[in-house]
Amino acid sequence: MSLLLDSPIDALKKYVEFPSVSADSNFSDGVTGAREFACDQLKELGFEVELISTPINPIILATRGNPSWPRLVIYGHYDVQPPDPLDLWSSDPFNAVEREGRLYGRGAADNKGPQIVHMAALSRVLRDNPDYPIHITYLIEGEEEIGSPSFRGFLEDHKEKLRGDLLLVSDTGSPGPDQLVVTTGLRGLTALEVKVYGPRQDLHSGVHGGALLNPLQALMKICSSLHDQDGRVNIPGFYDAVRPPEQWEREELAKLPITEEEYAKFLGMPDFFPPPGFSPLEGIRFCPTLEFNGIGGGYQGEGSKTVIPSEAFAKITCRLVPDQKSEDIAKKVRQAIIDACSSSVRVEVEVKGGGDPYVVIPPGKPGSSGQESELMKKAFDVAEECIESGFGTRPIFLREGGSIPIIQDLKELAGLDSLMIGLFTNEDNLHAPDESFHLGMMNRAIDSFEEFFNRLIRD
Ligand code: BES
Ligand code: MN
Repeated sequence: MSLLLDSPIDALKKYVEFPSVSADSNFSDGVTGAREFACDQLKELGFEVELISTPINPIILATRGNPSWPRLVIYGHYDVQPPDPLDLWSSDPFNAVEREGRLYGRGAADNKGPQIVHMAALSRVLRDNPDYPIHITYLIEGEEEIGSPSFRGFLEDHKEKLRGDLLLVSDTGSPGPDQLVVTTGLRGLTALEVKVYGPRQDLHSGVHGGALLNPLQALMKICSSLHDQDGRVNIPGFYDAVRPPEQWEREELAKLPITEEEYAKFLGMPDFFPPPGFSPLEGIRFCPTLEFNGIGGGYQGEGSKTVIPSEAFAKITCRLVPDQKSEDIAKKVRQAIIDACSSSVRVEVEVKGGGDPYVVIPPGKPGSSGQESELMKKAFDVAEECIESGFGTRPIFLREGGSIPIIQDLKELAGLDSLMIGLFTNEDNLHAPDESFHLGMMNRAIDSFEEFFNRLIRD
């Protein structure tokens, strides 16, 4: 029996049961297991599978078909985020269970469910038409959730193998199973870590307090200098390269079937704080940010402790929009932090990597080149039709707030543009406790993708 053909949900359950957390080496068996599971599915679909080793987790490259046919590359990642905090899960994150039309488990939505959707649809297409005349290359990496550190090196060595007419990605979001989004852009990312060093060891705050600058206080001053009162990033040159959204993008955004009230309620926040001149939903998709992801130092235990800590740290990431460049922003943020730091303490800023933003203008929209490959033009057209027939509404074309940094690398180094069809939703709790994948979404998507692959080869 073929799992993909007969029971895609069981295939997804099995895939989720391999705890493929790339951030934590204790999970290396799970990472291996998930990779082998994905390879086995591809072999069953008739792909020739190759594993490319990297300094961390091998990359799966698999191909089928005649290289002279139109060439489609399909991307996914077999790694997942850590499951913590474990006590907030209603069930074991790595023992996938079905409840109320959803499958719960870490990675169910990001990104294992959408991968099973593509594979299940292909299993039907290839069953009915073994000589399906499109050359397909699968590219499934295992380091996406840690920023794909090995990917650029891999790409430089193997970009020939990724030659293609289009990249298909389902690793982005949509409002829900009644309204899909075709994602036309991803934000870039720049990650930095700041350390502020004070006295050579923790000190009694009574014996020494009053004589020196507390590193936590110095760090808070630095951090609070990085935004202005209105929430704009307060770093020289930060916004210089920002390309304002096109009119059609604002119009598409207005079609999102979610009101600000509903969104505020979903977040459980008393109010929004978008950048001046933008609505909250525009802020996510059109604006860059600087966020504090973690900050610490000093005593964190129960009760109080009168101490001046010897050091303090902050973890920062910026989300970038076209045409900002990750390296340029890293330099500017680093300099701003150094400039904001008092000379009474010592500061170190380490750039932890990132990736550039990506944007694709759908063929035919204002600003598109007209030079797109035949497969790309056809795929955007057909996707719109198949989504309408499978989900009942035409998709909205929108940039996304999240990042998949390698998508821009694939554009720059392999010339691939992406058709990104969002299959997860806000309710899927990505990166959070009780992640799940909507099974109605899954079933509709399998039907739609089956139709998509079939219509791609019709005139
Ligand atoms: N699938 C997400 C990216 C995503 C999330 C796109 C939500 C659209 C909407 C991906 O797995 C992810 O989480 N990426 C990280 C990248 C980072 C680790 C470099 C992100 O966006 O934080
Ligand atoms: Mn993902």
